[in-house]
Amino acid sequence: MDLIIRNAKLRDKKELYDLGIENGKFTQIETTIKDEGKQEIDAGGNLVIPPFIESHVHLDSALTVGNPRFNESGTLLDGIAIWGEYKEGITKERIKATAKETILWEMANGVLRIRTHADSTEPNLLTVQALLELKEEMRDYVDIQVVAFPQDGILAHPQSAELLEKAVKMGADVIGGIPQVEFTREDGIRSIEIVFELAQKYEKLIDIHTDETSDDQSRFAEVIAKHAVLSGMEGMVTASHTTAMHNYDNDYAAKLIGLLKRAEINIITNPASNALLQNRLDGYPRRRGHTRVDELLHAGVNVSIGNDNIMDPFGPLGKGSMLQSANLLIHTAHLSGSNLIPKVFDLITINGAKTLNLTDYGIELGNQADLVILDAKDEYEALRLLSEAIYVVRKGRVVVETKVAEREITLGSETVTVDFKR
Ligand code: FE2
Repeated sequence: MDLIIRNAKLRDKKELYDLGIENGKFTQIETTIKDEGKQEIDAGGNLVIPPFIESHVHLDSALTVGNPRFNESGTLLDGIAIWGEYKEGITKERIKATAKETILWEMANGVLRIRTHADSTEPNLLTVQALLELKEEMRDYVDIQVVAFPQDGILAHPQSAELLEKAVKMGADVIGGIPQVEFTREDGIRSIEIVFELAQKYEKLIDIHTDETSDDQSRFAEVIAKHAVLSGMEGMVTASHTTAMHNYDNDYAAKLIGLLKRAEINIITNPASNALLQNRLDGYPRRRGHTRVDELLHAGVNVSIGNDNIMDPFGPLGKGSMLQSANLLIHTAHLSGSNLIPKVFDLITINGAKTLNLTDYGIELGNQADLVILDAKDEYEALRLLSEAIYVVRKGRVVVETKVAEREITLGSETVTVDFKR
């Protein structure tokens, strides 16, 4: 056997397990594997999980914060304007360099599946080209889906529709949209129709920036649900953000959630960016820009989490940690029930896999041997401590190894260590 992980705590099992890996796949999962591995790692009872899933990130804008200027107002519209200024001097090499650095951050945090949006309104499509090239160059280490994302709208600019289709022909995996920035509600609806037409023509998934506004009159999620049902694309369509849902009246929200469930729409919430960008004009009391995660989950809608913005004009902080975004969501979305905290872990693992329509994901016999050993005994501890990924394994090979911090406190003649664990 090429690699054996000993004493792994798996999420749904009480006993510890040994995981045997050969030719990049899980070939044995037993309480005790008698064979010896060429390489062995003792997980020591720590939680071992399939890789985290980054459901929604913008690798093209990541790490550009402050360039050419900082987003002082913090609004989404100013973020879009600053990103537009940055794009004017863009080069493919520069995008690839910052995007690759961000990918390495995500890998170090245990993320090996990424869905990134690539701005497809840049006239030379350098952003799309750059991210498609990176996807190929990093293929041995991380799986990347690229969304052709018409940042400034499909109908609001004359070239956008043509550029979007060109980006799809270049190899984008997913088709994006942003109906709420189109000139009118009618144009927003038409833009959704264009996305579905392209998705069916080129057999692609759909992921639309949907109702990413505080405006409770922004109601495009219902249109997306309708087209998912009409086109038979249930399960293949994602509505990212849906922050306006926070502000809808409860009767409309209840109806909408039923439609989303029926159409099997995946919802992605981006806790950090949504909290920062939404309801900026509220004064006090200040509503928070989160979609209704608890109600969606309760209704059986698939919800996953994205970091969205990592040090860019939309979100100045972040380090590509799914645990950090999940921790934030627990607080901002009131998900602190004892049965809810472990469920939030699904939003950065198996729910993300469903959103991305992934197969071959999970610690199961025959699956590709991708896994993360966390410095935590369970999901609760990982979410509380934002635990380090001690080892990250890709296709049976260790790609990340992390030395966990050791803290010593001197109390007179006594020295004690602290690791925050209970
Ligand atoms: Fe986004």
